[in-house]
Amino acid sequence: MPSPPPSLCLSLLLLLLSTATAISTTTNATTIPKATIPTPSPISSPTPTTPSTSTHSTLDPKQLRALQSLDIPTAKDPCTQPSPHNATLCDASSPFRHLVSLHLSNCSTDLSLTYTALKSLSTLTSLSFTNCPASPVRFPADLALSLHSFTCIHSLRHLTGVWLSRLVNLTDLTVTNVPVNTSGLYVVLGNMHKLRSVTISNANVTGYIPKHLNYNLTHVDFSGNRLKGKIPSSLSMLENLESLNLSSNTLAGEIPTNFGDLISLKNVSLASNSLSGSVPDSISALPDLIHLDLSSNQLNGTIPKFFTEMKKLRYLNLENNQFHGVLPFNLTFMKRLEVFKVGGNADLCYNHTVLSSKLKLGIARCDKHGLPMSPPPARDGSSGDESEPDSSDYDDGDDTSSKKDQKHGPNKVVLGVAIGLSSLVFLIVFLVCISRRCS
Ligand SMILES: *[C@@H]1O[C@H](CO)[C@@H](O)[C@H](O)[C@H]1NC(C)=O
Ligand SMILES: *[C@@H]1O[C@H](CO)[C@@H](O)[C@H](O)[C@H]1NC(C)=O
Ligand SMILES: *[C@@H]1O[C@H](CO)[C@@H](O)[C@H](O)[C@H]1NC(C)=O
Ligand SMILES: *[C@@H]1O[C@H](CO)[C@@H](O)[C@H](O)[C@H]1NC(C)=O
Ligand SMILES: *[C@@H]1O[C@H](CO)[C@@H](O)[C@H](O)[C@H]1NC(C)=O
Ligand SMILES: *[C@@H]1O[C@H](CO)[C@@H](O)[C@H](O)[C@H]1NC(C)=O
Ligand SMILES: *[C@@H]1O[C@H](CO)[C@@H](O)[C@H](O)[C@H]1NC(C)=O
Ligand SMILES: *[C@@H]1O[C@H](CO)[C@@H](O)[C@H](O)[C@H]1NC(C)=O
Ligand SMILES: *[C@@H]1O[C@H](CO)[C@@H](O)[C@H](O)[C@H]1NC(C)=O
Ligand SMILES: *[C@@H]1O[C@H](CO)[C@@H](O)[C@H](O)[C@H]1NC(C)=O
Ligand SMILES: *[C@@H]1O[C@H](CO)[C@@H](O)[C@H](O)[C@H]1NC(C)=O
Ligand SMILES: *[C@@H]1O[C@H](CO)[C@@H](O)[C@H](O)[C@H]1NC(C)=O
Repeated sequence: MPSPPPSLCLSLLLLLLSTATAISTTTNATTIPKATIPTPSPISSPTPTTPSTSTHSTLDPKQLRALQSLDIPTAKDPCTQPSPHNATLCDASSPFRHLVSLHLSNCSTDLSLTYTALKSLSTLTSLSFTNCPASPVRFPADLALSLHSFTCIHSLRHLTGVWLSRLVNLTDLTVTNVPVNTSGLYVVLGNMHKLRSVTISNANVTGYIPKHLNYNLTHVDFSGNRLKGKIPSSLSMLENLESLNLSSNTLAGEIPTNFGDLISLKNVSLASNSLSGSVPDSISALPDLIHLDLSSNQLNGTIPKFFTEMKKLRYLNLENNQFHGVLPFNLTFMKRLEVFKVGGNADLCYNHTVLSSKLKLGIARCDKHGLPMSPPPARDGSSGDESEPDSSDYDDGDDTSSKKDQKHGPNKVVLGVAIGLSSLVFLIVFLVCISRRCS
């Protein structure tokens, strides 16, 4: 077999070498993909790479060294490359530019943050960590004050409320999937007077929801913690609040009657708490409400009819509560929603002259007194004795099944679950058979 021409061999070798060099200078520390790191190789590769600028960067050399100490590849000027995911953004000052934004993700496990490196990065206004298991260090005061946005997702192992509270100039704070040891959220938020958006979720935070939150907040997400007590009625002061997520905590008591004062609300979840009492009437006054999730609480009373008047509503989840009475909705309303759930309310029922059993709402049909008929609607709609007139009524509304699939979310979901369940049962039976054979 003839050997390939030596020149080809050589360039292949060089290519291999240069690739290896590039990879060895690269870690999982940043969002900068390996492909954008210029290869310091003399051969021109067929892939379009910009000429190497490794010898002179416009970035402040101190910051360049800091980036290197954080395992961030700096072979190419971090200020001029089209940085994917905005891993690094710089300002335009001269003679040296400075970093204003740094996003670290998927860091290697041996990445360590040092005070010295962070000190020279005190021009950052935005800093984020995603999947970076480095140990947290005390931020230098300059950096703590300059940050406007701080994100920590499944990173820095564990934080404390005091540590976070030093970032007083934040407008955006996101801490998710990191335990935060604090006696309460007021410790973290009490001095952040410019805050607009806060997420502290899945962070094992205890205590109460602070009575005094910044009036200018637009997004609040405290889901997945161990917050207790009532939802404070002073929350209603947040008239700019567009989304509120307090789901999966241990909140109790009633939803404040003045909840409807939160006039900017679009998305709300109070799901998976221990809230009781009825749905406050004032909710009908939320003009922009799109998404309301009150599922898995102990809410009672009847389901208010005013939901049908809320023109923007697309998602309504009231399942697993203690609502009673006749469901006050018709098909017109339900078709307008993308998600509608009311199952798991034992004393709730639907009027079969208004709604078909085919909707599989997960609640019983009403008798003539408006009480749930037993047994609850586990049976198939088409086999029921009296359900034929209903289904023809219903079929009137959506003639073809494809149209039905597009327009009617809940039914599709039910069908999917049914198919999924039967496949599962089949699989189990099949596996049992096989294992019997084998033994
Ligand atoms: C980080 O890793 C995850 C999972 O391995 C991957 O989906 C994601 O795209 C990575 N992110 C970046 C910015 O490289
Ligand atoms: C990068 O930053 C610019 C300007 O701040 C922003 O418009 C853009 O959406 C960002 N891109 C990504 C992928 O985050
Ligand atoms: C990058 O991440 C992958 C998968 O998480 C891992 O196998 C690899 O060793 C990491 N590389 C470095 C340099 O840390
Ligand atoms: C941050 O806040 C402090 C006071 O808490 C203020 O003196 C400083 O100017 C602010 N810095 C920035 C960059 O906004
Ligand atoms: C949550 O906090 C409790 C004590 O407050 C602690 O025992 C537990 O380990 C914490 N859980 C996590 C995941 O950090
Ligand atoms: C949380 O902080 C308190 C007081 O600083 C300390 O006693 C406790 O051990 C810490 N808990 C955890 C789980 O780190
Ligand atoms: C809310 O923002 C306005 C301007 O956007 C500002 O004047 C006001 O002081 C802020 N209020 C609070 C409580 O931060
Ligand atoms: C609330 O948070 C949970 C989990 O953190 C999430 O699944 C849900 O989509 C959020 N709901 C809203 C309305 O933001
Ligand atoms: C609803 O719950 C509240 C608080 O638990 C209770 O006081 C009230 O009697 C209940 N109302 C109904 C109709 O069950
Ligand atoms: C609000 O809810 C809608 C509908 O469920 C969803 O499409 C949208 O992403 C949500 N927005 C926020 C900010 O959670
Ligand atoms: C459904 O209910 C709404 C409001 O209650 C009503 O305006 C509409 O006419 C009803 N549609 C049908 C088909 O009954
Ligand atoms: C069911 O709806 C029909 C027609 O709207 C009405 O006449 C009847 O009273 C309702 N039944 C119950 C139990 O609400």
